[in-house]
Amino acid sequence: MDADTLPPPAVKHRAPVPNYVPPELIREVDAYALDGIEEGVHEAWKKVQGADTPPLIWTPFTGGHWIATRGVLIDEIYRSPDRFSSRVIWVPREAGEAYAMVPTKMDPPEHTPYRKALDKGLNLAEMRKVESDIRAVAIELIEGFAAEGRCDFARDFAGIFPVKVFLTLAGLPLEDAPKLNILAKDMTHPTGDTPEEQGRTLDAANKGFFAYVAPIIAERRGGTGTDLITKMVNSEINGAPISEEKALGLVSLLLLGGLDTVVNFLSFMMIYLARHPETVEEMRADPMKLQRGVEEMFRRFAVVSDARYVVEDMEYYGTQLKAGDLILLPTALHGLDDTQHDDPMKVDLSRKNVAHSTFAQGPHRCAGMHLARLEVMVTLQEWLARIPTFALEEGAAPIYHAGIVAAVENVPLVWEVPAHS
Ligand code: HEM
Repeated sequence: MDADTLPPPAVKHRAPVPNYVPPELIREVDAYALDGIEEGVHEAWKKVQGADTPPLIWTPFTGGHWIATRGVLIDEIYRSPDRFSSRVIWVPREAGEAYAMVPTKMDPPEHTPYRKALDKGLNLAEMRKVESDIRAVAIELIEGFAAEGRCDFARDFAGIFPVKVFLTLAGLPLEDAPKLNILAKDMTHPTGDTPEEQGRTLDAANKGFFAYVAPIIAERRGGTGTDLITKMVNSEINGAPISEEKALGLVSLLLLGGLDTVVNFLSFMMIYLARHPETVEEMRADPMKLQRGVEEMFRRFAVVSDARYVVEDMEYYGTQLKAGDLILLPTALHGLDDTQHDDPMKVDLSRKNVAHSTFAQGPHRCAGMHLARLEVMVTLQEWLARIPTFALEEGAAPIYHAGIVAAVENVPLVWEVPAHS
């Protein structure tokens, strides 16, 4: 039995509640093991956001921290690094302190030159240059199984497509994918029964990333290649070459960001589409609706839940916060907030004002979002061109996991295969 299949501990670790937290704000929400997760991660988060749920709640799990439950707070906290720092962005705190990626833990102005380096490699114009390569990867994968009338979407497409695209952009061999996937999983779902154990799992995964990228960085320093890693390791930070330590964190973050997020997002989206043929039909009938619909998909299927660190004692939305508190920001709860969106669980391709924080907000807004958007659009276009109607296999039971990046596995899809194919 590996760590993933071990049953949860009989008694969950519970941190003592600080005396400034009023009892009426306490809710038993474990961000790594949400109640009702069998129905889906988004469904489970949505249950936390009842009409009577306060905008900030306190959970005793994962070391004890706040959770922002409304879109306006999630949006504002991400945009306010002077009050809500990125010093610790993972819960439990022990995992957040062990996390050493660059530049996600930095606040402006330290963050700014690193972000410029990232944007140089990942901006919209750069991504447009590789659109046809990305499309070719998607087509090859889909054509590999279209005639079979079935696939496990998570295993056969979502788990391969973004990984293959990203490793190609980074100039890394595809056979390294399984190793990197395991490290990414330990980073975003650190196992352990106590915050200390979770901190140790994360530390080991972080060190694993550094050990993997160190020789690659050494080899590409001073190189003239056009891959993403060569661009990053030869960037200048405030006029000087990027340091060894920061290059380790920056390249590792790129690998982490590019692997786990799109993989899981695509599966969440396809489960919904398999259950809603009318939405698929609408996209097939109108290619512009499909393109515009990508943003609605990001609103509906946000996958990241990370945190911010309270810089100083303050009252926020009527709640007393103390310096050093952590606030978890489940990005799903912005897109799914019914005070901002009618019928938020529905994918409405004509929806106006598609507000969400799926890519965060403010200075750390996802540097890979242009790549992510392209990958999602290309998947929808090339899939529907070859597999116009599909459904979940009867009795299918996708397995959901909550965490820093929400995950799903076991997504068996079936479709009719025309007689001539
Ligand atoms: C559905 C796909 C994706 C989602 C939902 C997503 C979400 C996010 C979020 C919420 C953050 C902010 C984290 C924070 O500040 O606490 C972030 C940052 C980042 N993401 Fe993504 N991401 C996705 C895809 C990608 C891809 C494909 C890459 C590839 C390179 C990437 C690279 C990054 C990087 C480098 C940062 C750090 C930006 C900074 O600190 O300034 N992401 N992402």
